[in-house]
Amino acid sequence: MKTKKDPVVAIDGPAGCGKSLISGKLATDFHFVKIDTGALFRAVALFLSEHFNDLETSLKSVDAFQLQKLLSNLQFHYKTNPVTVSLNGKEYGPEHLREHRVSELASIVSANPEVRKIIEKWQRNIVESGKDIYVVEGRDIGTVVFPNAQAKIFLTASPEVRAQRRFVQLQQNGKLGELTEKKILEDIKKRDTRDSSREIAPLMKADDAFELDTSDLSIEEVLDTIKQILTKQGLINA
Ligand code: DC
Repeated sequence: MKTKKDPVVAIDGPAGCGKSLISGKLATDFHFVKIDTGALFRAVALFLSEHFNDLETSLKSVDAFQLQKLLSNLQFHYKTNPVTVSLNGKEYGPEHLREHRVSELASIVSANPEVRKIIEKWQRNIVESGKDIYVVEGRDIGTVVFPNAQAKIFLTASPEVRAQRRFVQLQQNGKLGELTEKKILEDIKKRDTRDSSREIAPLMKADDAFELDTSDLSIEEVLDTIKQILTKQGLINA
């Protein structure tokens, strides 16, 4: 029997590989709804950092049942354009979610099983309660959250290229502050190690995902390749 496919284009890959830009363009060009799953981890990280002082240490010692209770009672709402996550009525928009320090916090909370469980449920709820095609970007979309996604893309790029892209992006948004490209590269490597080596849902390519190294490709070249894949899957017309 054939398994029913989820109406999802899964875009996975490490920080700075171009997931966000590419999924945004696909959403605009083909009227897909974009789900930025990193934003969900970022919002939960901000929420939990308001509850716990030293997040990394606290998450190691917190009682799993208490944490599960705290998270499952959260009223969650996701809005796209601009990406805004609301938790118990408190809105976290791009100005909060995209801060550099929040990247580190999100990577820390994303290794916690209770956090992953609730966010996995939220992601499924968004797709199951809608009638759209979703472009979902993250780390474990093709492997864990939507293993039956209609199309799976795994983007990569060298750490140096990714650090340089992040540097330019932060500079353009006036968010660079004291950060240097060297520090961004160090943080990216640290995050890669943490995201790929965690026990649950580590960053990895699904067996049936199409892998694309974007280091030497322009956005247009990446988009063209993905459009060919989506056309073959019958998701868009050539
Ligand atoms: O994509 P991003 O930089 O906004 O993600 C922030 C962190 O959240 C990242 O370090 C890993 C984690 N994350 C995850 O574990 N799984 C996802 N599906 C998305 C993000």
